[in-house]
Formats: sequence, structure tokens, C-alpha cells
Amino acid sequence: MSSIKYKNNTLFIENTSVKTLALKYRSPFYLYSNSNISKNFKSFYNNFKKINPLICFSVKANSNIKILRILKKLGSGADVVSGGELLKALKSGIKPNKIVFSGVGKTEEEIRLAIKKNILLINVESENEAILINKISNQMRKSTSIGIRLNPDINAPTHKKISTGKAEDKFGLSKNSLITFCRDIKRLKNLNLEAISVHIGSQILSENPFKKTLKVLEEIILKTKINFKYVDLGGGFGITYKKNDKKIRLKDYSNLVEKFKKKYNCKIIFEPGRAIVGNSAILVTKIQYLKKGANKVFAILNAGMNDFMRPALYDATHNILPLIKSNKRVKGTLEFVGPICESTCRFIKYKNYQKINQSDYVAIMDVGAYGASLSSNYNTKPLIAELLVTKKKVKVIRQQQDLLKLINH
Ligand code: LLP
Repeated sequence: MSSIKYKNNTLFIENTSVKTLALKYRSPFYLYSNSNISKNFKSFYNNFKKINPLICFSVKANSNIKILRILKKLGSGADVVSGGELLKALKSGIKPNKIVFSGVGKTEEEIRLAIKKNILLINVESENEAILINKISNQMRKSTSIGIRLNPDINAPTHKKISTGKAEDKFGLSKNSLITFCRDIKRLKNLNLEAISVHIGSQILSENPFKKTLKVLEEIILKTKINFKYVDLGGGFGITYKKNDKKIRLKDYSNLVEKFKKKYNCKIIFEPGRAIVGNSAILVTKIQYLKKGANKVFAILNAGMNDFMRPALYDATHNILPLIKSNKRVKGTLEFVGPICESTCRFIKYKNYQKINQSDYVAIMDVGAYGASLSSNYNTKPLIAELLVTKKKVKVIRQQQDLLKLINH
């Protein structure tokens, strides 16, 4: 049960009315519920309890250090894709032996950093990357634990821009290349092949592609005859953004993973991002202007695509809710848009939305994953603040970026 919900027609986050915060803090701002984050983490873990997996939260979904600290306390590790994310994960207190590092284009500097910090695994995505890691490890007189990422060529039903497991995608190694790689890796003396990893895409609402991926992994284990110490099954578990989105059911998958783990005697790693933080935040924004268009009314918000990219980038649906609900409906179409000078700076359209006024505040829902972490300074707008609510307590966990600093740097 989410801790962001209406009580007597007023939107609440935990024990705090969102309207009170909208009047107190400068909008727009991200507003997180601590309890939603812990509930999601625990429920994800409980789905796979029998497997006792290592959960490495995917930092790209949300890299706010305070959020990472909450997750660290819950026992999370981290999945990182850059030196910056690695340093943030470490700064939050997450131990190196719970950190995995993926990404197709790791630089020498990033590889050196990962080796120096003794992280659990560098998940290698190409033969040439392995050669480079081996060379750097040799220079540093280290033996580096690596995983190798498989591209299973599986089509997961999701938006085409967030699929990662098809042959045409740049991620991982194809089955055949991976098998050859495993044969040849003995030549790379400073590498220690400990894991096989996979990640087929994001916002996946069916468990079937995950099950299929497990089959491909079995096939590879049997062919290579390698006892991988870890099998990293990635992230990608979808959440319900829309009323009609069906909920992913992880039970069957979890049973299959349990059997798999027993059969191959390996430790399972997951890298969820969205499932942990997606529904943990809203973006509180003011209706700057109402404007009559030729065939609809525009509600022009003070938050734009620079603050929240998902609708512009992936045609994602994020509901926008009034902070105070009313029964008064207005006929016709209302479109919520942002101030950025691009036609794609639009959020969502409604028919017969409730009556709203200029200067009212509204909440863009489910923005905790790939919200703040994807935001930018486009149109030279400062990054907005992030606030965290824990029951009645409210904390600014990132200040709004200083405009003068932004223009002078
Ligand atoms: N592991 C790897 C290797 C990944 O590339 C990703 C996400 C994850 C884990 C976490 O996936 P999740 O559990 O959050 O689905 N910006 C897009 C999503 C991009 C996902 C990139 N990789 C969006 O807003 O939908």
C-alpha cells in the first residue's frame, strides 16, 4: 500500500499534506516517501526470500545520496555504470563487496577506480573491455573479479527505447561470442571470471521474458561447463504507471530462480531500480498559467521536460493529480505542458479534468525512478530541489541548484 494517497480529498505523503509543503517550499520539487522506498525494497526481497539474493539497487534510477543511504541501511548493494555512481555508492556507505559495475563504455580511469576499490564484480560487455581490464589489473598487480554480460537476444515487451536484450542492442555478448570468450579467457591471467550477468530491458510487466532468459543462461552454463559463483539477473521489473498496466507477478519466476540456484549452486544478484523507487516520489509543481488553445486548454506548469524527461523521451504516461480533489468537472480537453521551448515539453492530456485554477499546485505521479537522475539544465534552468518525508518529518535532501552558480560556471 502506497504512502502517497488521498485522505479526505487531500493528497498526503505519509502523515503530511502535500499542499502544506507546496505552500512552504519553492516549487517545483521532487518529494519522496521514505516508507514507500523501504516497503518496495522489503517486498522485492520477500519475493525472492528463499533465494537470499544480493540486491544491488540500480543507482542510475536515483542517485540521491540520502536515498542511497536509506537503501544501504536496508541491506542493499549497488549496480553502477560510471565512476561517479561508484563514488556515490561508496559515499553512501555501501560496501565495495556489494557493488557491481556494468556499462559498454567504461573508461580506463573508471576501470582503475573500480579495481582500486575492490568492488565485487566488473560486468564486462566486450572482449576488448576484458583485454583492457586485464592490462590495467596487471599494471596494478591485481586479480580482478569479473562477470560477463550476456545478450540473450530476447524481445521483452517494453518501449523500444528501453530494451537492452535484443541482438541489435549494444549491450553484452551474443551467446556464441560469450561461449568463445569463456574458452579464451584463461589467457587473461589477471582476470577471475566469477559471474554471468544479464539485463534485458526496463519497465517489463510480464514475467515471461525473464523466464526465457533463465533458459538461455542454463544453456550457456551447460555448454561452457563453468560453475559461475554469481549469476546476476539484472533489473527491469516494471511498475504500474497506468490504471490498466498489469502488475508483474514474480512468484513463478521466483520459484524458477530458486530451482536454478539449487541446480547450479550459485549466488543470485538482482539489480532493480524502478521497482524500488519508481512510486516513491511525486513532483510538486504549480500551474503557472492557464491558456485557452484552439481546441483545448493548456495548463502550463513551472516544471518542464528538463526536470522530468520520461514523457518527452519515452512517451511515458505519468498521471497528474490535484493536491485537493473536487467533484467539479470541466468539459473539454486539458493538456498539462511545461515551460521549455520544445513541443515535446508536454506531460499528459485529460478529458473533463476537475476544475483547477491558475496558481494551483498539482503532483506528477511516480517520478522516483529516472526522474531527478535524468534531469538537466536545458534552457539554463537550475536543477530543482528534492525533499524526503519520513512520517511527519520533512528534509531537503538536495537544495535547488543556485542559479548564479549555474550561469557563472
Ligand atoms: N541493470 C542494468 C545493467 C541496467 O542497464 C538497468 C537499467 C538496470 C539494472 C535497472 O533497470 P530497472 O530495474 O530500473 O528497470 N531511463 C529509462 C530506463 C533506462 C534503464 C536503463 N538501464 C526510463 O526512464 O524508463
